[in-house]
Amino acid sequence: MVAEKQKSIDDQLKDLKLVPVVSPPSVETSLRLAEILLRNDLPVAEITLRTNCAVDAIVAMKARFPELLILAGTVLNQQQVDSALAAGAAGIVSPGITSRLTEYCQQIKIPFFPGISTPSEAQGAYEAGLTSLKFFPAEMSGGLRMLALLKDIYPQLSFMPTGGITQDNILEYLKLDNVICCGGTWLSPYHLLESGEWEEIEWRISQAVKAIRGSV
Ligand code: 3PG
Repeated sequence: MVAEKQKSIDDQLKDLKLVPVVSPPSVETSLRLAEILLRNDLPVAEITLRTNCAVDAIVAMKARFPELLILAGTVLNQQQVDSALAAGAAGIVSPGITSRLTEYCQQIKIPFFPGISTPSEAQGAYEAGLTSLKFFPAEMSGGLRMLALLKDIYPQLSFMPTGGITQDNILEYLKLDNVICCGGTWLSPYHLLESGEWEEIEWRISQAVKAIRGSV
């Protein structure tokens, strides 16, 4: 059951290719961003639980735009998993991997993308039955070369690289066949959301979508 749910999310992420990682300053800004994402045919976001309004933002985004695929990010404990799930998140993303969080996500059958950056962590995840992992922080952890190495060692594993992905390197990452999709904050960083720079945000999103769909 959790394997089917995980596969379904993996398939959606493979099609989408890019997950905007978002720390919303307010619920209002998250809704405005959601409109822009949908208008640009990128109906997905990872909402990080780093700001006080993050869970409320997920609730509001799902209520107004049920078609959005929302992952909860920076999830560090069971209580946050429960809040994210109740809010409408379809999957859980964490910067690291712990057995407690892994077991809990498996127990309640919610897709889980723990962050790994070493072979030992990747192997631990595989041993625990996980095959779709966040590779974080991607650029600081060896980037493309590390992913190629991980493919040779662990061909069973697929990755969502995040951390240092930008408009300039995303296509290189997406060429690797062990990459499900890439994540990044560059599309709608906190400071642009907070200062309401919507034109800039929409430009970044539209440029990224054009690039990943092959029209730039
Ligand atoms: C994350 O939250 O996954 C990372 O902070 C994203 O890294 P980036 O800011 O380099 O995109």
